[in-house]
Amino acid sequence: MKTAAALALAFACGTEQAQAQAQAQDAAAATTAAVLFKGADLALGSKLIEEHRCTACHVRKVGGDGSAIYRPKGRINTPGFLRGMVEQCNTELNLGLFPEEATAVAAVLNRDHYRFK
Ligand code: HEC
Repeated sequence: MKTAAALALAFACGTEQAQAQAQAQDAAAATTAAVLFKGADLALGSKLIEEHRCTACHVRKVGGDGSAIYRPKGRINTPGFLRGMVEQCNTELNLGLFPEEATAVAAVLNRDHYRFK
């Protein structure tokens, strides 16, 4: 069962199950973006988003420039949850991001799309 679930998630991050897991892991849900993303390396985050083809895959799913996949008014509604979601995608897509890299990616998504305070 565990294997089947992992396989099913292998080609997409951001599934409902993944989001539930990210939320469950999100110990920092109440942390503000200012605290959570303080000192995050935004240049690194942008580079990683480019390198891991996040946008290319999102475009296939939602069209346009892919940014419609990011729904600030959707289920991801705190900076901590956003950070947890990126961590979840990292695991599912086997990206091998270090924790500070996942934070950098989340910080860029926050700056450009979610704009949590
Ligand atoms: C192989 C395809 C694929 C790749 C690569 C991918 N994603 Fe996704 N991502 C998806 C899909 C599909 C969804 C939407 C799932 C749903 O809700 O239906 C999604 C959703 C998300 C969400 C949730 C959006 C929201 O507001 O609900 C975030 C955040 C996200 N992706 C970040 C990333 C990041 C960061 C990367 C690169 C490091 C990445 N994704 C790479 C397929 C991908």
